[in-house]
Amino acid sequence: MKVIVSDDGSATAWHEGYAESYHSRFGAVSESQLVYLDNSGLTARLTRGMPTRVLEIGFGLGLNCLLSAASARQCQTLLRYTSIEKALITQRDWAALNYAAVTQIAPECAPLQAMLSNPRENHCVMRDLNAFTQLTLHTTDATAFEFPDKAFDIVYQDAFSPSVNPELWRPAFLERLYPTLVPGGVLATYCVRGAVRRALDSAGFIVEKRPGPAGKREVLVARRAE
Ligand SMILES: C[S@@+](CC[C@H](N)C(=O)[O-])C[C@H]1O[C@@H](n2cnc3c(N)ncnc32)[C@H](O)[C@@H]1O
Repeated sequence: MKVIVSDDGSATAWHEGYAESYHSRFGAVSESQLVYLDNSGLTARLTRGMPTRVLEIGFGLGLNCLLSAASARQCQTLLRYTSIEKALITQRDWAALNYAAVTQIAPECAPLQAMLSNPRENHCVMRDLNAFTQLTLHTTDATAFEFPDKAFDIVYQDAFSPSVNPELWRPAFLERLYPTLVPGGVLATYCVRGAVRRALDSAGFIVEKRPGPAGKREVLVARRAE
């Protein structure tokens, strides 16, 4: 794993196996904030004091999770964050990102780092990242995960791109994300490929393109009908 400093000054990393970076090189924090926290409606819900359940596909470096937890703390609103990751980052690699130096997410870094100390496959670890956020981290292949019905208000679909990580973008996988959302729930993703939009549409989602962050014209929001 090679650490990269993105254009907004926040760190991300290059994954040699997938030959892709975990976040946008134009700004890791700014991409995560817009594409996931804001577009999914998480920021608005937490600001209004609405307890929220998020499911994330691809825990990666934990950046979406840390920013979401920090937002829950700032808004003093409960967040239950469930994330699925096939290949959990090692504690040593994660420490190299130095996210603890990012003031906004610094308080959540120590509990997250402790969670990475004993990685095991096909395992589930639960921990409070702050007084408002409980993280449940499943170290397993998302394609084998049994998604509970109507269990989440928001899904962050944050796999690597369909070219290198196709199993998480196939219609058969995407259609399983629809029933795990409550009616009116929102799936947010950076990927706007036609095949992905069509698969989400066929799964029943109401799909909408939104303006993207720096370096990306558009991103997607897909809503389960009320
Ligand atoms: C783009 S990164 C996620 C970045 C992350 N959301 C963050 O905020 O740092 C995609 C992640 O999906 C994981 N992944 C890829 N295929 C997977 C699978 N079949 N099941 C679970 N995780 C998978 C990769 O290991 C990688 O960590």
